[in-house]
Amino acid sequence: MRTPAAWKPPERLHTERLVLRRPHPEDAQAIFEAYAQDPEVVRYLTWRPHHHLEETVAMVARALEDWEAGRTFRWVVVRRREDRAIGMVELRPDGHRLELGYVLARRYWNRGYMTEAVQAVVTWALEQPGIYRVWAVVDVENRASARVLEKSGMRLEGVLRRWSVHPNVSRAPRDCLCYSAVRVED
Ligand SMILES: CC(C)(COP(=O)(O)OP(=O)(O)OC[C@H]1O[C@@H](n2cnc3c(N)ncnc32)[C@H](O)[C@@H]1OP(=O)(O)O)[C@@H](O)C(=O)NCCC(=O)NCCS
Repeated sequence: MRTPAAWKPPERLHTERLVLRRPHPEDAQAIFEAYAQDPEVVRYLTWRPHHHLEETVAMVARALEDWEAGRTFRWVVVRRREDRAIGMVELRPDGHRLELGYVLARRYWNRGYMTEAVQAVVTWALEQPGIYRVWAVVDVENRASARVLEKSGMRLEGVLRRWSVHPNVSRAPRDCLCYSAVRVED
């Protein structure tokens, strides 16, 4: 579904330690080096580790196209003092719902960065006219990701059985935890 005219994703979102900004093609090199090749990082994602820079270049090109088309909005995550991609946060609109996804380079894990980014994105999202629900699914074994959503104030709704294929774990669809944050008032 296309972006409702009522809201537009910001080109940049600032948090205390991070900036989330619209990607540009030059980010591919940093993303390839920082995490796209890392099997630990992509373990519970829907894609396989990249072996060639060209794969990451194509991924970033898709991110730019998807943003233009209003299909999915992906921000690269950079630290405030250096404009180098260390992760990504994405929002996929579907009417009044936005589905959230995120990834961070392993060397930056467990510093609270992704919780900080997710909180900023969810707060922004639920302030947009027509947006009532932000949600995310995580593999039942992906404890770090579930913890990020819990710390961000999202509520566990249940298990979506056989919801998503995570090819680095198994060819068969995996059970996933479903979390959401919703707008309380009309
Ligand atoms: C999930 C991910 C984004 C978390 O980013 P992060 O910046 O390290 O997250 P935070 O530091 O904000 O919080 C991580 C929390 O998980 C906890 N954690 C980390 N590894 C854990 C594990 N194996 N088991 C249980 N908890 C774990 C940390 O202790 C921390 O919780 P705490 O603050 O209560 O101690 C990062 O691990 C990542 O990129 N993983 C690979 C990609 C991915 O799985 N994306 C999500 C797909 S749904």
